[in-house]
Amino acid sequence: ETIEWDPEQAGKGEFDHFMLKEIHEQPTALTQALEGRIDPEHGRIALADFEPGTFTDIESVQLIACGTSYHAALYGSLVLNQAGVHATALLANEYSVSSPPIDDDTLVIAVTQSGETADTLNALRQANAEGATTVTVTNVVGSTAAREADEALFIRAGPEIGVAATKTFSSQAVMLTLLGQRIAADLRGEPPADLETLLAELAAMPDAIAGLLEDSDADAIADRYANSQSYFFIGRGLGFSVALEGALKFKEITYEHAEGFASGELKHGPLALVTPETPVFAVFTGEEDEKTLKNAEEAQTRGAPVIAVCPAGHRAVDVADDHLEIPEMEADLAGLLANVQLQLVSYYAAELLGRPIDKPRNLAKSVTVE
Ligand code: AGP
Repeated sequence: ETIEWDPEQAGKGEFDHFMLKEIHEQPTALTQALEGRIDPEHGRIALADFEPGTFTDIESVQLIACGTSYHAALYGSLVLNQAGVHATALLANEYSVSSPPIDDDTLVIAVTQSGETADTLNALRQANAEGATTVTVTNVVGSTAAREADEALFIRAGPEIGVAATKTFSSQAVMLTLLGQRIAADLRGEPPADLETLLAELAAMPDAIAGLLEDSDADAIADRYANSQSYFFIGRGLGFSVALEGALKFKEITYEHAEGFASGELKHGPLALVTPETPVFAVFTGEEDEKTLKNAEEAQTRGAPVIAVCPAGHRAVDVADDHLEIPEMEADLAGLLANVQLQLVSYYAAELLGRPIDKPRNLAKSVTVE
């Protein structure tokens, strides 16, 4: 007797889809990413190939990427900006027509899970040709990006089969946080004052995510708001990059319309779209939360249900119609926890709608055409 054996099916283990498996792999992925790279007790970052002093001559940083990796790049650019470094995230597919000037003081970081995205490789090649120092943050050892950039920083997330990027976003954001702090320390000549707290909380992230995954109400929320007309995601600062990522994930696997906005932008146009049929997921990351809450209330006044993604006890919980809880974090890592809740909402919404979650129509895992 022969048994039909589908290696992909076998690889899903207890999960119905690779996406859900990969969402649940985030604690392990982050443990692997951080292994040997942080020393919270002594407040030290240890990145092989990026010893202290590597970036002393850098004056500005450009991060180039597409899709989810672009959202991680945006997150990384804000970490750098907040640490006092001049950094910009740029869409790789726009780079050939709109790249800011490059010189040999420019560091270009290509963020790409696969290391094979044509748009990102083209931008990386342009940066190399114009004399920038280049680094890729990638998941794939031996990928084209890893070969062509001056240096590679591997995120060690393990294989990601689902077309929707999940665990790799978290790992990219964490590695960009470490790289960003290393760059900032080199440019300032001293480590950031709150580095020990950041490293301790990074070390606590795997357990924080594991706890969140166990207690998440994302399935109930997906169910409650199924069949809405449009889904909006808002946030500020690091939370803005998470709002964009939440919306991309949602549209990619549910085929429903979703958009991410900077919270403060709602009133500059998008508010015209808001109705009781447009749930608003508001991400609170500790960055001017009062303003985000005010923006969310403006949507609520127009009838939109607001789902606050924030810790228990946050003021937004009393105002919002629903709550997706994230653990408390002192350092700026709340956005990554919020993102995991939003990944789950997208997953369960797509499941309710009977979508082919791991292989959405019209999309490929690695986009090797321009
Ligand atoms: C994310 O869910 C998408 N599948 C897509 O946006 C992806 O992140 C993008 O194509 C970039 O891929 P890369 O990270 O392999 O370069």
